[in-house]
Amino acid sequence: MNFNKICVIGLGYIGLPTASTFAAQGVDVLGVDVNSSIIETLNRGEIHIHEPGLRDAVTKAVQSGKFKAALKPQEADAFIIAVPTPFHEDKYGEYNGRTYKLADMTAVIAATESILPVLRKGNLVVLESTSPPRTTIELVAPILERSGLKAGTDFFLCYSPERVLPGQIMRELIENARVIGGVTPESAQAGADLYSIFVKGQIIKTDSSTAEMVKLMENTYRDVNIAIANEFSRLADKFGVDVWEAISIANLHPRVKILSPGPGVGGHCISVDPWFFVETAPELTPLIYQSRQVNDAQPNFVVDIVQRTLGSLKGKTIAALGLAYKPDVDDLRESPAGGVVHLLQEQGARVHAWEPFKPDAHLPGISIAPAFEDAIRNADALLLLVKHSEFVSLVPAQVAQKTGARIAIDAVNGWKKTEWQAAGFTFVRLGAGK
Ligand SMILES: NC(=O)c1ccc[n+]([C@@H]2O[C@H](COP(=O)([O-])OP(=O)(O)OC[C@H]3O[C@@H](n4cnc5c(N)ncnc54)[C@H](O)[C@@H]3O)[C@@H](O)[C@H]2O)c1
Repeated sequence: MNFNKICVIGLGYIGLPTASTFAAQGVDVLGVDVNSSIIETLNRGEIHIHEPGLRDAVTKAVQSGKFKAALKPQEADAFIIAVPTPFHEDKYGEYNGRTYKLADMTAVIAATESILPVLRKGNLVVLESTSPPRTTIELVAPILERSGLKAGTDFFLCYSPERVLPGQIMRELIENARVIGGVTPESAQAGADLYSIFVKGQIIKTDSSTAEMVKLMENTYRDVNIAIANEFSRLADKFGVDVWEAISIANLHPRVKILSPGPGVGGHCISVDPWFFVETAPELTPLIYQSRQVNDAQPNFVVDIVQRTLGSLKGKTIAALGLAYKPDVDDLRESPAGGVVHLLQEQGARVHAWEPFKPDAHLPGISIAPAFEDAIRNADALLLLVKHSEFVSLVPAQVAQKTGARIAIDAVNGWKKTEWQAAGFTFVRLGAGK
């Protein structure tokens, strides 16, 4: 199949890199978003999100005339849907006393409906948004078939999950293996034709439900494995064992690979996607459900450790270092560090948070210090919540000169105990025994 013009619907972290990468290959790309300020920004050749290499790619795409942004789709050969699939904040499902979160598919429905007026025979539609199993055939196909055209017969329909790493999106988009699930083998082939325009990694053709499940399995696997690491950290704490030493020894076993414990699991993928399985099959997912519970409760364990170390938290000042959901990114979505800060405040602590990747973030109920020095100056304890490189490379003897704190608590195994002790700090690490 030939693609002269494509429409990418949803111009965020996934859609915009995808659109600009197609444009760089000479395809005419119309980027579509419901946010008019995004459309204006992009048409000026500027960008609204931070991702290395993206600004350059968008500027070139706009200047070459190959990329334009608009509020509505137009006729094209292919349509790619890359809109958000969060969960509802205020709606829950219930099964056997277990309360679970529900996917909010509003944006996928709206984006699919927006294609309807311009869908033509022979087109290809690809859903990229992470979605519950069978979304492509049970939600997207019926909407598109309101056009009178039949999915798999009159137009091609695929699901192709995105598996890029933020910070590396522009490279991984091209190099990663790409799964293309078609509602028919012909659809999968059309999808493979489209992505082979720029994908250099392996392209694997399968059916749409398998492709949806692959994406959810990848993130659920990570979540469940982090949950067991977190549970090990609590057990080690109870038995006076250093979980980090125990894990490093256990991992010498050739068939064991235990992940790292920490303050919980965050971000918009690993902490969200397992719920898509629980929602669609609560009777089959007690382990996945329980893992989500374990990871969501891990901030409480961090606060227990702080409390044990400092005694009552009333009136104590804690410097919380890091609010992002993982090291060296500016993404604060679903971050467990934010949960820890809220819990500390509930216990009466004053928290001065510092996030070097987003110093001007506005998080409800969290006060972010103007600078690292301000966060630590009058603290009673330093609490490391994210393993950002610049926190790992702190020199304890220098830190000691800038803070009154003489307690350092490390929730992510980012600091060397001996160095902090040598600088006069009482040092406590999550899961390192009492
Ligand atoms: N960001 C990642 O690293 C990543 C990785 C893998 C998968 N995903 C998945 O990709 C999907 C998109 O994620 P993202 O991070 O790009 O989201 P995002 O929030 O960065 O961007 C989504 C964009 O879609 C727009 N939008 C919402 N509804 C729309 C509609 N009806 N029509 C047109 N535009 C609409 C929004 O205004 C926004 O600009 C999600 O399902 C996500 O789970 C993301």
